[in-house]
Amino acid sequence: MAKFLVKQSGPLHGEVYISGSKNAVLPIMAATLLCEEQCVIIDTPRLRDVDVMCNMLRRIGADVVEDYDNNKLYIGTKTIAEHEAPYALVSKMRASVLVMGPILARTGRVRMPLPGGCAIGARPVDLHLKGFAALGARITEHRERGYVEAVADKLVGSNIYLDFPSVGATENIMMAAVLAEGTTILENVAEEPEIVDLANFLNKMGARIKGAGTDTIKIEGVKRLSAASHTVIPDRIETGTFMVAAAITRGKILIKNAVPDHVKPVIAKLRECGVTVSDTFDGLIVDAENADLVATDIKTLPYPGFPTDMQSIFMALLTTVKGESQVIETVFENRFMHVAELERMGADIVTEDRKAVIRGGKPLHGTSVIATDLRAGAAMILVGLVAEGSTEVSEIYHIERGYERFIDKFESLGAKIERIEEKVKEIQ
Ligand code: EPZ
Repeated sequence: MAKFLVKQSGPLHGEVYISGSKNAVLPIMAATLLCEEQCVIIDTPRLRDVDVMCNMLRRIGADVVEDYDNNKLYIGTKTIAEHEAPYALVSKMRASVLVMGPILARTGRVRMPLPGGCAIGARPVDLHLKGFAALGARITEHRERGYVEAVADKLVGSNIYLDFPSVGATENIMMAAVLAEGTTILENVAEEPEIVDLANFLNKMGARIKGAGTDTIKIEGVKRLSAASHTVIPDRIETGTFMVAAAITRGKILIKNAVPDHVKPVIAKLRECGVTVSDTFDGLIVDAENADLVATDIKTLPYPGFPTDMQSIFMALLTTVKGESQVIETVFENRFMHVAELERMGADIVTEDRKAVIRGGKPLHGTSVIATDLRAGAAMILVGLVAEGSTEVSEIYHIERGYERFIDKFESLGAKIERIEEKVKEIQ
């Protein structure tokens, strides 16, 4: 198994270019199943999750050509050959569930292995299924055999109110509704930029979607969709990660290809801590040089609130800021797995249910830690950059799922990080 070896690195300086968004490209890749012709996806990040989705689409019947020299994917699906997503791939990535809506819309039947939970929570798909049922699908859960099935002779537009603004459910139901007969009104939906990017791609394919980015989306069903090409939005969580990298190391970084509008809560919180953030023609400049940062509180919420994916990363910063900070996680029920790892490095954190209280400014020392999820892995790297000594971060496949050229980008800013292959000790 590989690890990252991170050494205390001092303030980071330089510039970094943000890659295409993982959480935008995955639903857009799934949406290509909705038409026969070849779609082109531009600014595709080179990530393990994208590789898994490429293989998933191939198993379903898509012809997928990867042109990573130009960060492009070419995907066309003449016929849907397989109506069941293979468990081996579904178990690798929760976002696999996003192929359900397109397969159901295009063929009238789909089987999905029930996605396992993961480190950050149970992550059910009940809201996805509720949406498909509202559109006229018959849902059968074969729990004993670990899969769920949706069948519909025809999907008919409907009014659907989501119990929670789930990102995946909003995307899946939207993809099912675009070929339904009549009008669908989706309420209390997710408003994330990735929803808007998916709706823009679907509309380029000939769908008729209004309201993406607000809490109500209206969809007029159409008979068929055709190929489109689309440039994926930049990754707002990668943007936030490098913003915090500048802050935690008290450095100064120019972040290019960022969309300031997509990271407003992160900008606001960094400014509250005393970090200077400037939106310039060349990009976002995050400057924490010689800054005496102050503690602040964060509470994660669906967009446009503070993003849950930035919670562990921002907590890493707060462990280095004198004073008491509070972090409340409202989106996932178990997203404090990184706290124990931060404590191993000397952080003083007390958690109670969904609240963590950080008494920042304590000396941090390097040790061996694990990445408990994609974003927590990034958080551990950031603390490793400022902790005394060196830090070994294992389970780094999480990080490589979601950050393109992670090491290269950090090394170019002066970070001392290297990837080491851990020799698996023979168990005597
Ligand atoms: C998306 O996951 C993102 N993944 C996650 O990013 C992100 O953390 C999450 O949205 C919240 O912003 C992708 O876009 C690929 P949800 P998703 O459905 O769609 C509950 C990362 O690091 N829920 O909005 O799975 C669920 O249990 C990943 O890039 C139901 O109860 O998130 C959770 O508590 C991590 N029933 C909450 O809603 C459902 O049917 C939010 O989940 C669906 C969700």
